[in-house]
Amino acid sequence: MKLEKKYPSEVYLNGKWLKPDEAYVSVFDRAFMFGDGVYEVTPFYKGKAFKLKEHLKRLQYSLDQIQVTFDAFSLENLMYEALDRLNLNETDAAVYIQVSRGAAARSHFIPEKIETSILLYAFPVALEGFENKTWEVMATEDKRWHRCDIKSTALLANVMANEEAIAAGFAENLLVRKGYFTEGSHSSLFFVKYGVLHTHPEGPEILSGVTRAEVINICADLNIKVVEKAVHIDELVEVDEIFVTGTTTQIIPISSITHKNKKVYTARKDSITRKLQKVFIERTRK
Ligand code: PDD
Repeated sequence: MKLEKKYPSEVYLNGKWLKPDEAYVSVFDRAFMFGDGVYEVTPFYKGKAFKLKEHLKRLQYSLDQIQVTFDAFSLENLMYEALDRLNLNETDAAVYIQVSRGAAARSHFIPEKIETSILLYAFPVALEGFENKTWEVMATEDKRWHRCDIKSTALLANVMANEEAIAAGFAENLLVRKGYFTEGSHSSLFFVKYGVLHTHPEGPEILSGVTRAEVINICADLNIKVVEKAVHIDELVEVDEIFVTGTTTQIIPISSITHKNKKVYTARKDSITRKLQKVFIERTRK
């Protein structure tokens, strides 16, 4: 079932707080025309940011990679203002930031004189109760570009992969490149094999998930070994647990994977996933 989403009552657009029906960008905005923009989603647990610096650092990385000159850290106060304006300090929420290269007459080259366009808003999000969920997912070929480390607004391949899963009754689509799992359409991916966590190494094939990094930190503290190595679809027979992570996903165990209409994985255990969820809740709620 698809959850109906509402527009936030107010958004920040290029220096002004506006009602959604007043917030417009040019038809020549390059994020609209080319997907020439980057974004970030930062969680706030009852008004308290989690890993704010890491999210802004990743936004800065994306901006630097696409050569947009803008200081991501200059947005910090606006993020808190967005929460205040929507009265989201007592509830769980997230802040969406989108930086577009800006508007200019259409050209494949990057125009010299162009003003960056900033959209920012807060929205409520359910960050509680994920420990009661398990997801049945599907797996399909990863058809995205080779710069998934850039958090680009050009998410058509992700949207299509996710839609394929939802239409077939699955919660997420795990993406496979040359036989190896990369990540989910909107989540990072972990496998537990012989008690050791496996996850795709950072690089152009995945987004460097902030939640993923925190799971790796937790593992170091719990003495759980992590190997940043991709898992092949044929290795699933050796896998006991799989879980996905993300800012809005949190940590959710995968109960089964269907690939080409065949169930290729059924969870055997969940003890390591449960341990990580418990510590993650402690850290995000402290
Ligand atoms: N997406 N990989 C992809 C492709 C993602 O889109 C996301 C999150 C993640 C998890 O990253 P993080 O732990 O930093 O949220 C991994 C966000 C939430 C979104 O697009 O809305």
